[in-house]
Amino acid sequence: MATIQAAILGFGTVGQGIYQILNEKKDQLKESLGLDIDIKAILIRDKTKSRMAAPDVLFTDNFDEIEAIPDLQIVFEAIVGEDPAYDYLCKAIQKGCHVITANKVMFSKHGLELQELANRQGVHVGYEATTAGGVPIISTLKNILLVNQVQRIQGILNGTSNYILTQMRVQESSFQDALEEAKLLGYAEADPFNDISGQDAFRKLMILSNLAFGKQPKWDDVSIEGIGDITLEQVLGAAREGLRFRHVAEIVEKVDGSLHASVGPRLVGPEHPLYAIEGVNNAIALETDYMGTLTLVGPGAGKLPTASAMVKDYAEIIGKRTQILVTI
Ligand SMILES: NC(=O)c1ccc[n+]([C@@H]2O[C@H](COP(=O)([O-])OP(=O)(O)OC[C@H]3O[C@@H](n4cnc5c(N)ncnc54)[C@H](OP(=O)(O)O)[C@@H]3O)[C@@H](O)[C@H]2O)c1
Repeated sequence: MATIQAAILGFGTVGQGIYQILNEKKDQLKESLGLDIDIKAILIRDKTKSRMAAPDVLFTDNFDEIEAIPDLQIVFEAIVGEDPAYDYLCKAIQKGCHVITANKVMFSKHGLELQELANRQGVHVGYEATTAGGVPIISTLKNILLVNQVQRIQGILNGTSNYILTQMRVQESSFQDALEEAKLLGYAEADPFNDISGQDAFRKLMILSNLAFGKQPKWDDVSIEGIGDITLEQVLGAAREGLRFRHVAEIVEKVDGSLHASVGPRLVGPEHPLYAIEGVNNAIALETDYMGTLTLVGPGAGKLPTASAMVKDYAEIIGKRTQILVTI
């Protein structure tokens, strides 16, 4: 049986999850794809850190060593930030590799360019994990767009913000107490700025915009507001009126084809598709011309939900390749 040679860039929460799932599901993937996978190398930044054992895998802090692997076919990318991730993925695609990324900061900016480069090279880019972690919004949206047009997207795209707003209403916690609890539970980063300011949701919204509308609004035109100024009194007052605060990332295509996007707290009533979304979950409501509104809900982050979305991309990409070979 032929073997796919793969590399993982980044071995933190998500990178370790990819490694774990590829090992745990090795036989199942082998059977369904008719191909084995071999992780040849893992790129990290700090070689002195003690790590989960990964026998027979090269750990390197030098991307040149990854690029030099003969017959490398798949690169999973789970590092942080725009650079050098974009540069590494361009090099991997130019070498003829399929790439699969979870990196929303990089992909929100360079997604279209990477996909164009991949098209020219005849390889695929998987990015399910960049938006709403384990929720299959990218593949669902691609599927819907085969026939429907999407007119509006409204999402809860950051679980930490939704957790805080839920705790404020249900437990009557202050914003600060709910944030501290989110940190203790591992939902919020030590520096939660990107989560609570709306920046994280904004990046994911821009990835959805590229897919649904083939373009993005000008970033400077998007109003981005966080949840930091919402008080417990406001949350409880709204609840008494049957309303809930939700941190909503929204994009609408106007009749003239222009896009209007915003991220910010909204008060919603029971008729709204995001009203019932509680805790750390993410949700995306898609308004379409033929199907009406479809809402997807699920875990928007976390080691295994995110990594499983990336392994799903791998299975889809390799599955397509196998289908082509069988058809030929
Ligand atoms: N965590 C989630 O639930 C989640 C969900 C969706 C998407 N994502 C995205 O997935 C990516 C990874 O997130 P994570 O939570 O796994 O991060 P993490 O735990 O901080 O791990 C990052 C990994 O990348 C390595 N790394 C960082 N910069 C590097 C560089 N310049 N060169 C080589 N290696 C580098 C780090 O190396 P060292 O180990 O040596 O420090 C580490 O192994 C991010 O882009 C994030 O936005 C994460």
